[in-house]
Amino acid sequence: MRLRDVTPDDVDAYLRMRCDPVMMADLGGPLPADGMADKVRRDAAAAAADTAWIKMIVPDPRVPGEVAGTVCLWSHDDGDGPVSEIGWMVLPEFQGRGLAGRVTRRLLEQARDEDRWGTVHAFPATDNAASNALCRSLGFRLLGERDVPFADRVLRGNQWAITPRTDLTPR
Ligand SMILES: CC(C)(COP(=O)(O)OP(=O)(O)OC[C@H]1O[C@@H](n2cnc3c(N)ncnc32)[C@H](O)[C@@H]1OP(=O)(O)O)[C@@H](O)C(=O)NCCC(=O)NCCS
Repeated sequence: MRLRDVTPDDVDAYLRMRCDPVMMADLGGPLPADGMADKVRRDAAAAAADTAWIKMIVPDPRVPGEVAGTVCLWSHDDGDGPVSEIGWMVLPEFQGRGLAGRVTRRLLEQARDEDRWGTVHAFPATDNAASNALCRSLGFRLLGERDVPFADRVLRGNQWAITPRTDLTPR
C-alpha cells in the first residue's frame, strides 16, 4: 500500500466516494456530483501547498492507477480555535481488510514523526461501527458526542482525540 497526494485527475475516485449513497450513508447521504471537480482541484492545491495532507490510497504500488480510498489530515476553525481532524474512506471492494486502520496509522505516525498537527480529532457517526472500532484500536480517546459540520450539513458524531506522540498504540 502507498499513499500519494490527491491530484486534479482524481475526480472519478471522489465521485465514487462522495456521490454514492452507500459510501455516504453515515455522512448524511450522497453529495451532488456538480462541483466535485472543483472540490478535487481545491484539495489538490491544498495538498501541493502542504497546508493539508490529502492522500489517495494506492493499494498495490505495481498498479499506480488504482485507488482504494482516501485518508486526510487537516486543520480548521469552527469558531472555538483551530482543530486538527483526520478522516478516512475506503471503497467497498477494498473494505474489511484492515486498510482504513493501516492508512490512518500511517498518517498519524507521520504526524508524530514530523511533530505536526498536535492533538488530532476524528468525528465518526455514532453508529459507524468500523470507524469507531478503528479509533479505539489506534489509541484515540472518546471525548463524547457532538454535532459535526460536514459539507454544508450537520451530523451527530463521536468526538475522538489522539496525541500521536503519546497515545498511538504499538503495531
Ligand atoms: C469506515 C470504513 C473507512 C472502514 O474501512 P475498512 O478498510 O473496511 O476498515 P478496516 O478493515 O480497517 O476496519 C477498521 C476496524 O473496524 C472493524 N470493522 C470493520 N467492519 C466492521 C463492521 N461492519 N462492524 C464492526 N466493526 C467493523 C475492524 O475489525 C477494525 O477493527 P480493529 O481496528 O479493532 O481491528 C469504510 O467502511 C468506509 O469508507 N465507509 C464509508 C465512508 C465512511 O463512513 N467513512 C468514515 C467517516 S468517519
